[in-house]
Amino acid sequence: MKSTQQKLFTPVQLGAIALKHRVVMAPLTRSRSEQPGDIPGDLMIEYYTQRATDGGLIITEATNISITARGWFGAPGMFTDQQVAGWKRVVDSVHAKGASILSQLWHAGRSSHSTMTGGLEPVSASVDPAYWNDPEITISTPGGWQLTSPHRALEIPEIKAIVEDYRKAAERAKSAGFDGVELHAANGYLIDQFLEDGSNKRTDEYGGSIENRSRLLLEVVEALVSVWGGDRVAVRIGPGGIWNGMSDSNPQALFAYVVEQLNRFGLAYLNIIEPRIKGNVLISEGQPPVAAEQLRKIFTGKIISAGGFEPDTAEAILEKGDADAVAFGRHFVSNPDLPRRIQLGLPLTDYDRSTFYTFDKHGYIDYPLYEEKHVAA
Ligand SMILES: Cc1cc2nc3c(=O)[nH]c(=O)nc-3n(C[C@H](O)[C@H](O)[C@H](O)COP(=O)(O)O)c2cc1C
Repeated sequence: MKSTQQKLFTPVQLGAIALKHRVVMAPLTRSRSEQPGDIPGDLMIEYYTQRATDGGLIITEATNISITARGWFGAPGMFTDQQVAGWKRVVDSVHAKGASILSQLWHAGRSSHSTMTGGLEPVSASVDPAYWNDPEITISTPGGWQLTSPHRALEIPEIKAIVEDYRKAAERAKSAGFDGVELHAANGYLIDQFLEDGSNKRTDEYGGSIENRSRLLLEVVEALVSVWGGDRVAVRIGPGGIWNGMSDSNPQALFAYVVEQLNRFGLAYLNIIEPRIKGNVLISEGQPPVAAEQLRKIFTGKIISAGGFEPDTAEAILEKGDADAVAFGRHFVSNPDLPRRIQLGLPLTDYDRSTFYTFDKHGYIDYPLYEEKHVAA
């Protein structure tokens, strides 16, 4: 059994959010919202409540800010009254166990299909036919796994309208009782499509220079902060990530600028995905965390590090001082009692990738607690 003196199990303050431990649940798309309507229902309540701990932090799965933001069948939304009512039940149940919960706000951009966006073409910073022809990029749609649909570039007034959609979603998240919001600016979705020059070929004030490519991100953060205050807003970035067709000619310079700019908002935290992870697959076995190490020198607030962590490497990054908390993704899928298992050095249950994005309770709410498994064995 491990000592309880691990740094992972010491308190930390992330903006306005006080935590009793630093084992954070990473945002995880699981496709179990109720259809039609993308509404959080009983399954989702059970799933999040199982993973809530006293003084812990849950970041929800990516949540659509509008119909045209949708990019993954079964992902929940934050743009109708029914969705807000469903989320309120999730949030109340998680709060009853003493945990905090942030809503991760999402616009999928080009990573979508017209059957998801009300028949409209998905939108992006600019047009890249190679993306919708890339056989490696498939998404979950009502018609099963498909290539993305051809997308088009956003006009400037539409960009302003999307910033407004983010603001409205932030307000809705507030009325659902969340503790704050996290902006999904990673993994090749809309904000990232604007940030990185592999996908942003615009020549107006939203493209070209690093300053211009960062404009949408900063405008959205400003909108979220206007609703919540900086200390309840967080941003997730994936510097150097190559998932979802992403690339940038100089990710170091781009993300150094982004993070420097984010300093002025006094955010709750910055959630940084290590480039050793490609979406949900570890691609560089043994590579130490590098993104948090570099950005720690620039960001003045708290950092949550994510991507390929095990209990010992999570403890190590906290000891080294490059992060303040660690978000676990896949281990949280299959270990509803993950913080306790880490604290006590108990073995972890393996996850089953085949049920990550299915639609029922199997592989979702039926992973046992350590004791249940032990007794059953
Ligand atoms: C099933 C699954 C769904 C995911 N969905 C999201 C998501 O909605 N938003 C997000 O920012 N990252 C998402 N990710 C990425 C995780 O948050 C995390 O960064 C990644 O799994 C690496 O962490 P890990 O090695 O602890 O699993 C997802 C990963 C998995 C495995």
